[in-house]
Amino acid sequence: MHKITIKTLLKLKREAEHFACLTAYDASFARAQEEAGVEVILVGDSLGMVVKGQETTLSVSMEDMIYHTRNISRVCKKAMIMADLPFAANVSVEQTYLNSARLIAEGGAQIVKIEGGALMLDTVRFLSERGIAVCSHLGLLPQSINKLGGYRIQGRNKKEAKQLLADARAMEEAGSDILLLECVPAELAAKITESVSIPVIGIGAGPECDGQVLVCYDMLGLHHGSPASFVKDFLAETHSIQQAFRDYVHQVKTGEFPTPEHIFE
Ligand code: KIV
Repeated sequence: MHKITIKTLLKLKREAEHFACLTAYDASFARAQEEAGVEVILVGDSLGMVVKGQETTLSVSMEDMIYHTRNISRVCKKAMIMADLPFAANVSVEQTYLNSARLIAEGGAQIVKIEGGALMLDTVRFLSERGIAVCSHLGLLPQSINKLGGYRIQGRNKKEAKQLLADARAMEEAGSDILLLECVPAELAAKITESVSIPVIGIGAGPECDGQVLVCYDMLGLHHGSPASFVKDFLAETHSIQQAFRDYVHQVKTGEFPTPEHIFE
């Protein structure tokens, strides 16, 4: 069984084959996702909300991230493992480097995900030059929720759209290996995906991204309050968690998901 790497995702992008990503926080879900063909498992700091019951992702610690990443790397033989750098892990470039090294060495992650645009360029460059694979998370940044004042779509006006496109290109130039776009109009996400040669994963970012990601509890119909409009409940039709994961992979690959009801204009 070959481990999925950045090279695998680049090949999929070149061949225009979409890939599937889901969040997981424990071994059983990660194993079921891998068996269903999910290419990338994201140990997201969304665990603060869906596992720990917190209102935001802000108080997730490095210890939380390492613990949950290790649960997954222990059992996953094939899927790529991406781990989030939590909010308090990015106080300086050196601290982000140290924390990324911990996610890799202690957690077993292959790639770290960092939230933020232009401000994180030096950090991304520093990590990349030292051999750390990086996914840059752009668009809606849940770690900036107190500044944003709410979870809302990003890049809707011309100025924001121009900035997002510029950030995406700059992140690729600085050494990012993957981009993740959250809550971005589908047309803009398509333009960004076409403008960079690295794989782009979308959540609420339309069907043209190279890969799709959802929080696994959301796509199993388990959510606190009403689900975001870009979420589809894959369990509703099958009543089997394993089949829901297989259906998700299939629908991402065939382009059946996301449909117009899951995208922003
Ligand atoms: O933490 C997370 O689960 C994420 C996804 C929303 C992409 O970053």
